[in-house]
Parts: sequence; C-alpha cells; structure tokens
Amino acid sequence: MIVCHCRVVSDRDVDAAVSEGARTVAAVCRRTGAAQDCATCIFTVKALVCQHAQEAWTLAEVDGAAS
Ligand code: FES
Repeated sequence: MIVCHCRVVSDRDVDAAVSEGARTVAAVCRRTGAAQDCATCIFTVKALVCQHAQEAWTLAEVDGAAS
C-alpha cells in the first residue's frame, strides 16, 4: 500500500525504516522521505509507527512475563 503519494513511500518502506531503527514519526519520515511535501500522509505514517510500537511493547511484556 502506498502511504505517501508525493514521494511514493509504501507501508513496507515504513516497516523497513522501523526495523532499521527509526523509532519516531520524524525519524521514519527522514529515512523514507514521507511527509516531506504536502504532509497529508503524516497520520498514516504515525499510525504505522504506533502499530509497530504497540507490537514491540506487547512482545516485551510477553518476554518479561516469561522470564
Ligand atoms: S502524501 Fe506524503 S508528502 Fe504528500
């Protein structure tokens, strides 16, 4: 799915940026180029970053409960 139509950034590009260490919306946007023009995509980028953070926290909770 294309997230940013101005810079042709996909949800996979956002996923890759997060996997490579981008932890904030600003860091993901810098890395992918998203939200650098009209910025209407910023909310979608934010939702994807929040989704990743939520998944990471859930995994951390599971890891913490297991140890
Ligand atoms: S849609 Fe992303 S900057 Fe325009």
